[in-house]
Amino acid sequence: MTTGNEGQMIDKGITLARHLLDDRQKFPDGELRALLLQIGLTSKVIAHEVNQAALVGRLGTTGEVNIQGEQMKHLDLWSNEVLVNAMKETRLVCTMVSEEMEEPLHFDRNCLDGSYVVCIDPVDGSSNIDVNGTVGTIFSVRRRRGQGRDHVATDVLQKGNEQVAAGYVMYGPSTVFVYSAGREVHGFTLDQTIGEYVLSHPAIRIPQRGKIYSVNQGNYHRWSEQTRRAVDYLSAPDKATGRPYSHRYVGSMVADIHRTLIEGGLFMYPGEVGGGRKASGKLRLLYEVAPMGYVVEQAGGRASTGTERILDIQPSEYHQRVPVIIGSADDVALVEEFYRGQR
Ligand code: AHG
Ligand code: MN
Ligand code: MN
Repeated sequence: MTTGNEGQMIDKGITLARHLLDDRQKFPDGELRALLLQIGLTSKVIAHEVNQAALVGRLGTTGEVNIQGEQMKHLDLWSNEVLVNAMKETRLVCTMVSEEMEEPLHFDRNCLDGSYVVCIDPVDGSSNIDVNGTVGTIFSVRRRRGQGRDHVATDVLQKGNEQVAAGYVMYGPSTVFVYSAGREVHGFTLDQTIGEYVLSHPAIRIPQRGKIYSVNQGNYHRWSEQTRRAVDYLSAPDKATGRPYSHRYVGSMVADIHRTLIEGGLFMYPGEVGGGRKASGKLRLLYEVAPMGYVVEQAGGRASTGTERILDIQPSEYHQRVPVIIGSADDVALVEEFYRGQR
């Protein structure tokens, strides 16, 4: 008996699995493809939980504080556990770093199994959870360098330009999976009717210049003179140079950078002066800034600290923070000019 739905998946377009299978050049051995598929699958479980959080008592904080000194949310911990189990199951991952875990986690005691190191921010923008705002998951994949526990630090503390794949999932009005494994960036939208990610944004290119800047303006008085002057410039009216830029800030890096990727402009989280704890900003290099920087660069944009390319930074700590200016190439270059004293 037929249901009349046969072939529906094909009619619906290219699924994530189909897309990864078709690209034999980027995924010659199938391992990276399997890893990305597993991240995609796990994100569907998280998407469902995000959707149901208010109904299953998963809102609010646990009362615990993470290594960053931030309140942990139920959803942060739950999602971390789900991702850890999912990565372990693949037997392709040797070590994992997460915002929610103080130390890297090794799946096998001697660290001999698995070719990859995965860094994750399980729930990015978690302050948005309780107000039904957009959150995301960020992931970064590097190849391990050696074997055994002695190699852990060198495996994990690799520059962003060593990433072999990175991306994010955005749990917004629809759930979107965006990844790059080099050269191109592709976006998929979760089709709830078939439970599959379907290619909706092939080969994303970020506009060369945009009209939006995104930053927590409430920190203005703690910024350096250069940062304040750059933001003053962007918000000052001048028809000839297309100003003022509009200001948008979701407070979830995934959502702010996703908009930047599609519409152009820039997202910043600069360092602060005055000796506070945000001298290097707030965002973490390994599992927030490097993966998002990689995606934006592969789409033709730029990712900078203001004085240095993000992907060239040699990490020194697992939870290291760095200042970020990320987005359209011309807009990032413009802000860099302020840091160089050229404006
Ligand atoms: P996380 O929820 O993973 O700790 O990340 C929050 C980050 C990032 O998503 C966002 O851009 C930024 O924090 C917002 O910080 P402010 O509230 O200081 O603007
Ligand atoms: Mn985050
Ligand atoms: Mn987080």
